[in-house]
Amino acid sequence: MYRLIGFPPLGSPTPLNARSHPQVPGVNGYSHARQPRGQERVITGNRQTSWAAFADAFVAEDEALRWARDRAHEVGLRSVTPGTGAALRLLAATVDAKAVAEIGTGTGVSGIHLLHGMRPDGVLTTVDPEPERQQFARQAFRAAGFASNRARFIPGRALEVLPRLADAGYDLVFCDGDRLECLDYLAESLRLLRPGGLVAFEGVFADGRTVDSGPQPVEVARLRELLRAVRESQELVPSLLPVGDGLLCAVKR
Ligand SMILES: C[S@@+](CC[C@H](N)C(=O)[O-])C[C@H]1O[C@@H](n2cnc3c(N)ncnc32)[C@H](O)[C@@H]1O
Repeated sequence: MYRLIGFPPLGSPTPLNARSHPQVPGVNGYSHARQPRGQERVITGNRQTSWAAFADAFVAEDEALRWARDRAHEVGLRSVTPGTGAALRLLAATVDAKAVAEIGTGTGVSGIHLLHGMRPDGVLTTVDPEPERQQFARQAFRAAGFASNRARFIPGRALEVLPRLADAGYDLVFCDGDRLECLDYLAESLRLLRPGGLVAFEGVFADGRTVDSGPQPVEVARLRELLRAVRESQELVPSLLPVGDGLLCAVKR
């Protein structure tokens, strides 16, 4: 039933560890197989692990992130995967982000990743209608070592809060709130971003439903409209990253 693009088969035909012990320079050139360490050992130990899973676990997460993930699990939230988190870090660092706006704080998993990629004096403005979740995120940011002035928590719904934020005042906008509102988030992001700034939308694969031609809920229709709008916009330079549940990214010209 897959219509636009299929997903790669989950099982990798090549045993992962056939390539995961690359040769590294030894005394006499490239002669010693590098021994796997730490998290790598876990990854290489499972020959059935797909390349997607390998990529997703490539950047290890620390205690503060695990704590935030546990809180998300308890309240029934889906946080970004470690691979998506690593991509968010990379994107924040790439645009040398000083001001980031996040829609959907959750318990702070994505926020910690964004803060790690931002400049040391950067401020994350994060919006969520659930104060209890933001309280967990606040604790998680502290546990991750970020001073309290690195984050501005705004309780409320994105479409009520975003209009109060400054035009062209942000280097990056990360959208992980209500999928039904994703097109409105795009419009707001275009206003909030400086030229050269970046917008990212989490979860655009919707667990594969976005490319499934069977009957789908309204939120999937919205995501398809979003994908089309971003791809066709003359204002944006887009890329769809196949990390986690799909991270749609675009730079504002
Ligand atoms: C998938 S969770 C976010 C997870 C978080 N980004 C992370 O990776 O740790 C979605 C969050 O969006 C929030 N949310 C739902 N509707 C929203 C809205 N209209 N505006 C802002 N946030 C919203 C929910 O309360 C929830 O905490």
